[in-house]
Amino acid sequence: MIISPINPPRPPLIASEKSSFAYKTTRSRWPVIITKTIDDVYRAYNIPGFSGSIFKSEDSPNETEQRKKTEAKEIIEELSAMKYAIERDKPLVPLIPDQLSDFDTWEDVYQKYFAEKTWFSAPWLFTECYLYRRLNSAFARTTHWREYDPFKREKEDTFRKSYTAVNELAIRINELVEIEIESNKSEDLNKQDEEERRRFVFSELCQVSLWGNSTDLSLLTDLTSEAVKKLQTTGKGALKEAEKNILVNEIDKIWEKLKGLKGARIDIVLDNAGFELFGDMILAEWLIQAGYASEVYFHAKPIPWFVSDATPKDFHSLLSSITEPNFFNSNKIVEEPNIEKLSSRWNEYMKNHQWHLKFDYFWVSPYAYWHLHEKGRELFTDLCKSSLIFFKGDLNYRKLVYDCKWEFTTPFTEAIGPLNSQRVVPPIAALRTCKADVIVGLAEGMEEKMKAKEDDWLVSGKFAVVQYSPGEK
Ligand code: F6P
Ligand code: MG
Repeated sequence: MIISPINPPRPPLIASEKSSFAYKTTRSRWPVIITKTIDDVYRAYNIPGFSGSIFKSEDSPNETEQRKKTEAKEIIEELSAMKYAIERDKPLVPLIPDQLSDFDTWEDVYQKYFAEKTWFSAPWLFTECYLYRRLNSAFARTTHWREYDPFKREKEDTFRKSYTAVNELAIRINELVEIEIESNKSEDLNKQDEEERRRFVFSELCQVSLWGNSTDLSLLTDLTSEAVKKLQTTGKGALKEAEKNILVNEIDKIWEKLKGLKGARIDIVLDNAGFELFGDMILAEWLIQAGYASEVYFHAKPIPWFVSDATPKDFHSLLSSITEPNFFNSNKIVEEPNIEKLSSRWNEYMKNHQWHLKFDYFWVSPYAYWHLHEKGRELFTDLCKSSLIFFKGDLNYRKLVYDCKWEFTTPFTEAIGPLNSQRVVPPIAALRTCKADVIVGLAEGMEEKMKAKEDDWLVSGKFAVVQYSPGEK
């Protein structure tokens, strides 16, 4: 059997099944996301001064501004038409040629597998990626909006509300960096004690990075500062409490690999911008300071994706914005040196090439990661230089396991297919809060136990998995 986007290793998650989360997403969540995008574009060209507005002059708009306005109307019309088509389960249509480098891939996959399909009858993984790719195409085909990110305002607003957790984490990582500096200086520390200490720190920071994934904006809209605070799990007590919601916890397995590394290359395939990215950077910093990594490669999405995913612009803007006096709407920043301290170190890592930022169109392709070695060859070859790759978040997880109906007890290593069986693949760690009806690697009986406990355990983002594949190196 040839595995392809229309023929995953098990039957695909699909929106035609009314009890599925795919159905709920297609029926209710996407129309809301599209409406909000339309709203953002309308406000950006219609309300001068609106944050992110590209409409410059209030009086007698010149030709360029007229053009921007016309293009905005075209985008709005196109998005409205797409929303209409989704709500009526219309056939999927080919993408209109745009300048993006992956256009041919999309055209090819569409023609080969999906030309006869509709929004509800094609596998959910494809339709959801196709939705965001079409959305981006509407902007990419204009002159004035091609670089515009309709999710930027929302990503930034939510991050601004994260001050409390950001500050707490800044204090913690500054403290940890001090400890590492001391530890490196001192020769008479007991090696075993040091290793044990680091094991705990690694587990803590893995969980910081993991739970950062619960504030994803495609699932949670219009969060208040209080709600954001509640979702952001930091501090030892809160982490301890949340740890029992990690349904499969293989942090120790990752640690066994990590502790043998010295000055290695470690990669993080990012998910969401803002607070989640901040937590990923905390982990990345410690990996460097503790000497396990000499370089960390971050992989971002090349275009706005699944609302909150991190693009290169989001990455750079995080590095520069956290020290802006009023970014977090809190004057405390001015008095509080913790974030400044951390920010100057992080900017140094970028300058010194200890941190690298990469982006690749494979991450926004219609392909699951089972096809990484054949459809994203250059990227794959590069990733094989890594000693350990972290994959963050729900969508990366869905793509790792091909978003299909595995028995929940299927081993993770089996469900990621070639990414485990290929000879040269590095070790992989998936850090994911659960937001889709796919999960693997559960112990016998766990599914039944969870079903009895909470109806929406698979999709609420309250539960998580940390899973590991040792690769073949
Ligand atoms: O809408 C599909 C989905 O994968 C959800 O399951 C999830 O809420 C969201 O998109 C993306 O989540 P994440 O940011 O963790 O990849
Ligand atoms: Mg995301």
